[in-house]
Amino acid sequence: MSLRARISTPEEHGSRGEDGHLVASYRAKLLEEIDLAEMSSLAAAERRARLERVLGHIISREGPVLSTVERSQLIRRVVDEALGLGILEPLLEDASITEIMVNGPDAIFVERGGRVEQLPLRFVSADQLMQTIERIVSTVNRRVDESNPMVDARLPSGERVNVIIPPLSLSGPILTIRRFPRSFTLQELISFGSLDEHMVYLLAGLVQAKFNIIVSGATGTGKTTLLNALSGLIPSHERIITIEDSAELQLQQTHVVRLESRPPNVEGKGQVTIRDLVRNSLRMRPDRIVVGEVRGGESLDMLQAMSTGHDGSLATVHANSAEDALTRLQTLASMSDVEVPFVALHDQINSAVDVLVQLTRFADGARRITEIALLDSHGGEPYRLATVARFDAQPMTPDGRVHGTFAYFPLPRRTADRLYMASQPIPQAFGVARTADQLATREAR
Ligand SMILES: Nc1ncnc2c1ncn2[C@@H]1O[C@H](COP(=O)(O)OP(=O)(O)OP(=O)(O)O)[C@@H](O)[C@H]1O
Ligand SMILES: [Mg+2]
Repeated sequence: MSLRARISTPEEHGSRGEDGHLVASYRAKLLEEIDLAEMSSLAAAERRARLERVLGHIISREGPVLSTVERSQLIRRVVDEALGLGILEPLLEDASITEIMVNGPDAIFVERGGRVEQLPLRFVSADQLMQTIERIVSTVNRRVDESNPMVDARLPSGERVNVIIPPLSLSGPILTIRRFPRSFTLQELISFGSLDEHMVYLLAGLVQAKFNIIVSGATGTGKTTLLNALSGLIPSHERIITIEDSAELQLQQTHVVRLESRPPNVEGKGQVTIRDLVRNSLRMRPDRIVVGEVRGGESLDMLQAMSTGHDGSLATVHANSAEDALTRLQTLASMSDVEVPFVALHDQINSAVDVLVQLTRFADGARRITEIALLDSHGGEPYRLATVARFDAQPMTPDGRVHGTFAYFPLPRRTADRLYMASQPIPQAFGVARTADQLATREAR
């Protein structure tokens, strides 16, 4: 077999054992001569140039007969593998891919436009996959091994990476890479059918009138994307503090302070939690606090902040419905080290949360707001949710698409008054309920 054939094109990268072995053997030789860790102080471009130079010497020394093209292809592949993510590299460069899922060495899936497909690619072995994973996690100073078999991290380039390895995973090392999400404007989200103009009009009023808003949804339903777009409605003179586990929000305002939590280092030290950051942010004179995702005891601090003058805060929570989001906030708040009776938490939520925005990802990959609800209960009353917008889905069409329409319901009096006092218009599509039975309410415990 000619070397030209053995050095495959990027699409075939690693798809045949023999190429993989050629690249692997040069990679091993390269790593014998160079210490990657020592090079970590160099900038990426310098590091690459240095490796290319050393590898060029090795190839000349070993003397395989290669054309200029073959030689540069071989160098590129070996250096990609030594430095980068090997067969994953072209996938990361492909802007249409939003998620890369590696289920062991033989199964690589990607998500494109909301649809998941398997690619005809494979790693040479579980070992090679493990090496790639180690390379990824070591760039963020983390380690993955049997005693630390789960890692969640963000790459310097913004991608979010999750790794879980045997013995926890029964199908070999598992790697999930979430591309740094592109931010979408509300106008773009309208064009995708995720919400409509009337809903944007209402949400803009609610954000500007400083309602506290919780965006809820399951994994990957577009919570962060919507939070980002909604944050864009905050007036630019306000001081915004964003708090996230992995900084994904891309606020356009000038007065923004971005805080990011920190996992413990290899020795298990130095952790700074979302909760620490929420507490600290209260001493930073915020006009608004935006919490990327509430998933622990910070729920309590955030609720306290929301009900004590830090109005207009925004956060997301992982939940399948608006009532679920309330229970989840309550449960998370009860996980905090401060013991607060459940009843008191209930009161706290009633006074802190104003609006719930529920997102759903449909079978066809579309993400939509499926409900906007106002929390219209006080004190110890059971949660009373007034739906003001809802997506009514129709049965799936033969081509697998889900269509439907948005429906609107009158706003509670209290909400309308607050909008009015903040000089925000009442969107006509909704109107205001004159009597309680005009509201689309339901109770939840
Ligand atoms: N309305 C939308 N229409 C189409 N694609 C969207 C929409 N919202 C988000 N996406 C895409 O879906 C993916 C997940 O979005 P996002 O990160 O906002 O979800 P999430 O709910 O915050 O996820 P997680 O639970 O993992 O935090 C991203 O690739 C994003 O670009
Ligand atoms: Mg998110």
